[in-house]
Amino acid sequence: MSKNATLEINGEKYEFPIIEGTEKELAINIKALRTATGGITTLDPGYKNTGSCESAITFLNGEEGILRYRGYSIEELAEKADFLEVAYLLIFGELPTTEELNKFHNDIKDQSHVDEDIKKILDGFPKSAHPMGVISSLTSALIAFNPSSVNVDSPEDMYLAIVRILGKFPVLTAWAYRKRAGLAMDYGDDSLGYVDNFLKMMFKKPSGEYNSNPVIVNALDKLLILHADHEQNCSTSTVRIVGSSHAGLFASLSAGISALWGPLHGGANQAVIEMLEAIKEDGGDTKKYMAKAKDKSDPFRLMGFGHRVYKNFDPRAKIIKVAADEVLNDLGVEDPILDIAKGLEKEALEDPYFVDRKLYPNVDFYSGIIYRAMGIPVEMFTAMFALGRLPGWIAQWREMRLRKEPIGRPRQVYIGENHRPFKDIDFR
Ligand code: CMC
Repeated sequence: MSKNATLEINGEKYEFPIIEGTEKELAINIKALRTATGGITTLDPGYKNTGSCESAITFLNGEEGILRYRGYSIEELAEKADFLEVAYLLIFGELPTTEELNKFHNDIKDQSHVDEDIKKILDGFPKSAHPMGVISSLTSALIAFNPSSVNVDSPEDMYLAIVRILGKFPVLTAWAYRKRAGLAMDYGDDSLGYVDNFLKMMFKKPSGEYNSNPVIVNALDKLLILHADHEQNCSTSTVRIVGSSHAGLFASLSAGISALWGPLHGGANQAVIEMLEAIKEDGGDTKKYMAKAKDKSDPFRLMGFGHRVYKNFDPRAKIIKVAADEVLNDLGVEDPILDIAKGLEKEALEDPYFVDRKLYPNVDFYSGIIYRAMGIPVEMFTAMFALGRLPGWIAQWREMRLRKEPIGRPRQVYIGENHRPFKDIDFR
């Protein structure tokens, strides 16, 4: 096969190299396009066909439903690893030895303290504030408390920044919840695992004990692993592009959290539960909502369905569906919206509208049902996604800085007014 692609414009031919990834994916390298053609650019709204970088972190094949972190399948990782092991794998490229993992966890614990003054900032938010806005702001505020910028050429500096945010982020997330719930802030317990400790910081009642429940800890661990990275999605691309200006790690993460908030991205898990609740309140008529989803004059979309890259099934959704059944059984929870969810899924998978457009349940369709069973309120769902995605964002930011990628700066095709003379205010 030719190793070049030929582009012909007005009879003039231009050659561009075709590059091949380690999984045999092909890409036309158009780095030289503008220089070669005298300024012609490409147009690709939503970047549906554009590779923004080369990356060795996550492999995703949407047609075959494959997701791997650093070469390991998501199915095996969800079954055999814990969240911190996966975080280490994503960030540093290899699964940790016991010694490396213990050191990593201890270093994270060492850095988990949050300056007491952060509470004053938290106090300034109304109780009704959405946790994602609060977490994004507090992550940004961390810069003021840790002002020295990371020297990315120093492995020690990089490592410190990474364990710092992995230590402090769960505290900020749990505090965002406690503020909303009117609970005094709680500090972690270093004797607990990373995920268990997070649950303690969320749920310990001021006057009561925290009793860890292994079913909940395991389920949350699995959910966080499934969310940990997903190559160049909206929030990750945001983290990389903000970081490409050499803004710091915390600033880049704060921007990523805001990007994740939207209902078309991480906010979908909250939107799914709100949708299922609304269907239940409306008498449980799933057919009515299927019709709305298909009606082009109705803005309603079946939340938790469809994905930019998965066009056969979302491998994360398969694992989560099984986990949802297990968790609900283990906890003895009967949730009527699970039946509505299963009904909708069955109808959609048989409906030509969804089949033709290759719309399948995505990771968020069932994750909210598990979060609900764990007692996590719906407004916190997207924050849980952020907690899971944190190692992925860090890994992508680190890779981008170590590869010394140029500042992200897309082009456009201008479609506005041509040059015109200034109109004096009296003549407008
Ligand atoms: N319900 C009804 N119709 C849909 C849906 C849906 N959930 N998703 C896509 N479509 C239709 C869409 O209207 C379009 O139809 P047509 O070709 O007739 O114009 C066609 O399917 C293709 O959709 P698209 O919007 O061009 O696809 P996209 O790749 O730009 O968007 C998506 C992907 C995930 C934003 C979209 O499927 C969606 O809005 N889904 C609901 C929100 C959701 O669940 N998001 C979570 C994604 S997974 C978590 C994450 O990684 O962020």
